[in-house]
Amino acid sequence: MTTVLGIEGTAWNLSAAIVDEDDVIAEVTETYRPKTGGIHPREAAQHHALYASDVIERLLREYQDKGYSPQNIDAIAFSQGPGLGACLRTVATSARALALLLDIPLVGVNHCIGHVEIGRWKTPAIDPVVLYVSGGNSQVLGHRAGKYRIFGETLDIGIGNALDKFARGAGLTHPGGPKVEEYARKATSYVKMPYVVKGMDFSFSGLSTAATDALKDNSLEDVCYSFQENAFAMLVEVTERALAHTGKSEVLLAGGVGANMRLREMLDVMCEDRGASFYVPEKRFMGDNGAMIAYTGLLMFDSGTTLPIESSHVDPSFRPDTVDVTWIADEQEVL
Ligand code: ATP
Ligand code: FE2
Repeated sequence: MTTVLGIEGTAWNLSAAIVDEDDVIAEVTETYRPKTGGIHPREAAQHHALYASDVIERLLREYQDKGYSPQNIDAIAFSQGPGLGACLRTVATSARALALLLDIPLVGVNHCIGHVEIGRWKTPAIDPVVLYVSGGNSQVLGHRAGKYRIFGETLDIGIGNALDKFARGAGLTHPGGPKVEEYARKATSYVKMPYVVKGMDFSFSGLSTAATDALKDNSLEDVCYSFQENAFAMLVEVTERALAHTGKSEVLLAGGVGANMRLREMLDVMCEDRGASFYVPEKRFMGDNGAMIAYTGLLMFDSGTTLPIESSHVDPSFRPDTVDVTWIADEQEVL
């Protein structure tokens, strides 16, 4: 049995977990909550630096209280990117220190792949098209020939950031996504908004601006509803085309925006129409969490991928399609 300790801290959530092949054994999270506005990168990094050792100590205590010994831990995994540079560096420093202290290997995990792998672990999905939608990221990806290929992605900002930015302009507190969802439920009519899909890519910044403008002549409820309808239809369109192009028969939803019930409903209808299976992990595994980094680290470690400390620099724009997926045999793909 392999055991890996993983640390996540690409943005607002500092979270560490210890997992083995079977389950999450222990997890401790400290969330940075901005007093005003959105995430301030420097403040978020300071938050992570302040809580890093406390989180690790509490995690190891929880692990020991359950009867395990830290000597069982085989590797230390950390989020190497993408994310906010200052946050990534803070987490990487803790991970290196811990790997040296316990004298075990380090594993650098791509955050986007972490979202995918925890979804494959915690749902029956085997070889899905993944819709990964969070604050900073929006991608449609899937495994093909040794890599997680990005079939489509945002040309500007992530859908979560677009929702948060609009919500902030409308006077709602951060994070705005859940509030937009609530207002949208009370809408009475649709307001025309931009719909931007270019090839397999999409864009949200124009939509966010148009929604802010539309507030002058329309109710907040109607604008929230129309924003969601357009943004989610764009995401579902590209996800559907990725299914058609790849011949895959499963869709997995990942990332914090995946909590949205309207998005789930639209994906569910599309999957039903195409005869595909639709999988959504438990909410605790959808937003950023330490378990996804620990588990992906475990898959990497078991397939022989570790990271020498001297080349363990972080990468704020780390793309998932540059990672060799050493833990999935190509034959496993359902073509
Ligand atoms: P990443 O580092 O992957 O970009 P993140 O830091 O944005 O992740 P997540 O927890 O994956 O963190 O996602 C947070 C985002 O999810 C925020 O933008 C928030 O507004 C959005 N969100 C949360 N709940 C909902 C919801 N019900 N509807 C829409 N958006 C939501
Ligand atoms: Fe994330």
